[in-house]
Amino acid sequence: MKPIFIVTFILTAMSLFAQTPLYVPDTLSGTNISLVLHKDSVAFVSGKKTNTFGVNAHRYLGPTLILRNGSPVTMSVNNQMNDTTTMHWHGLHVAPSNDGGPHTTILPGAIWSPGFTIMNDAATYWYHPHFMGKTAMHTMKGIAGMIIVRDAAEAALTLPRKYGVDDFPLIIQTQQFDSVNQVMHRGMEDSLLLVNGVRANYSNTVVASFPAQVVRLRLLNAGGERNYNFGLSANTSFSVIGSDGGLLQQPVAATRIRLSPGERAEILVNLSGMNGQTLYLMSYGSELPMGVQGGPTMPMGPGNPSMDSPLNGTDFNVLQINVGLQTSNPVTTIPSTLVPVNPYLPSQANATRTIRFTAANATIMDGPFFFNDSTFDMMRIDYRIPLNHTEIWELTNQTMVAHPFHLHDVPFYILDRDGNLPPQFERGKKDVVLVYPNETVRFITKFTDFADTVIPYMFHCHVLMHEDDGMMGQFVVSSAVTGIPQDTENKNAFSIYPNPATGLVTVSLQDFKKDEATTLSIYNTLGDLVYSENTISNAKMPISTSNYTQGIYTVQVKTKNTLLTKKLIIQ
Ligand code: C2O
Ligand code: CU
Ligand code: CU
Repeated sequence: MKPIFIVTFILTAMSLFAQTPLYVPDTLSGTNISLVLHKDSVAFVSGKKTNTFGVNAHRYLGPTLILRNGSPVTMSVNNQMNDTTTMHWHGLHVAPSNDGGPHTTILPGAIWSPGFTIMNDAATYWYHPHFMGKTAMHTMKGIAGMIIVRDAAEAALTLPRKYGVDDFPLIIQTQQFDSVNQVMHRGMEDSLLLVNGVRANYSNTVVASFPAQVVRLRLLNAGGERNYNFGLSANTSFSVIGSDGGLLQQPVAATRIRLSPGERAEILVNLSGMNGQTLYLMSYGSELPMGVQGGPTMPMGPGNPSMDSPLNGTDFNVLQINVGLQTSNPVTTIPSTLVPVNPYLPSQANATRTIRFTAANATIMDGPFFFNDSTFDMMRIDYRIPLNHTEIWELTNQTMVAHPFHLHDVPFYILDRDGNLPPQFERGKKDVVLVYPNETVRFITKFTDFADTVIPYMFHCHVLMHEDDGMMGQFVVSSAVTGIPQDTENKNAFSIYPNPATGLVTVSLQDFKKDEATTLSIYNTLGDLVYSENTISNAKMPISTSNYTQGIYTVQVKTKNTLLTKKLIIQ
């Protein structure tokens, strides 16, 4: 049916209409990074503008952050979106309180300033919101950007790393707009392709001018549900050098790489001697199996909506590449080895967890989907994992559609897919793995460095609407299996007054041991963190509650050895 028409249409359109140069986002680096999230609008198509969210000067998406392994960074995330959100550093190994999951909300008008040291290997990561039920809406309306981490091992290799010169970010998304051009963040008929936030198909082709030497492409699937089967035109070969969380042991020659939502890959394309030639980065959707969103559309069962994007099951251009002059000091060869990759061994595992991907019944294709038959609950901790536990997670997909499984906190190594070794390019550090219908994938990881008995990390499907619909769970990592004892001594070590309160409330910590470091947090009944402050004992903390809705809150005071809670009533 449509595929041939669409391909012809795209090819015709390319020759008839103006071409759009590849847009390369600006970069931010250093120890203080400031992100202002704001409402904006973009004329993606003719007619009414599309309402968007943007970061800093961007009307849609945000700057690329360039960070260094071992360096400290303080983020300042200023929420001018007029909607509560969070900010998650996807793939970064940070403490739960810095991870930006659904418990760490940023209220409208507020600034969230987590500070942490970068502990990740050189690779391509990204940032996006993670507010309960609104990840798809906030991300697909434009809050997302790339993070590039650099380290010494990567710097020692002869690789292209001049951003925008021989090293390019490629953030790929598709959108579906409604009749007045507004983002349908749950749209399954997504056909408007965006490369770095710029419209890339139908009447426009995004055209890159790349030098005739080795170029590095950082591919990020930042979309809601579509899988891409990337390849070059004429089956030109390329080399995969990096997976989600680091470089591979050696470059892997390939003609295709499939990326599901949330996944990244770094590839090298050797354009040496090709000055004047043109090629295309494409997605070969026709080769994806049915059940993998982006592949051929499944025949609809009763009760299922049409999910018939014209891109499904077709091969389409993502980027036109015009090869131009070589730069000075070009990289012209591909290194034969990269970095050592040392996966944990199954014999080191302390535990195996089994997670089944489920749906209410076997014919459901559009969700909601669950883990082990239960939907996400902010108030339920699914797993309590001892610090430094090495674990095997066994994921079995019992639904009709493929799901990209994502783990926060630590990268993992895929052990096997249905008992077989994963393809070469999946043998590096990963944080997202696509699990096909009826497939079982096992990965191994170790929960290192960060423990927090209160704030959990997430694991979830990275199809954003599946995540929002409850295909998510949470775990805490604790340094002691028993956790911190609640309210043992110091029964009256803090007081709240007035209580019930209106407007200003004071939390007094005067009876704690002098100068002990303390975290003061306030949670609402949903478990949302609504207030958090680091302080010391002796302090009297005045807190304005005028933004808080009426109801019962939990005030929690946490020191090194104690965790005290008291109820606060806001009238
Ligand atoms: Cu990319 Cu939990 O997210
Ligand atoms: Cu993440
Ligand atoms: Cu899913």
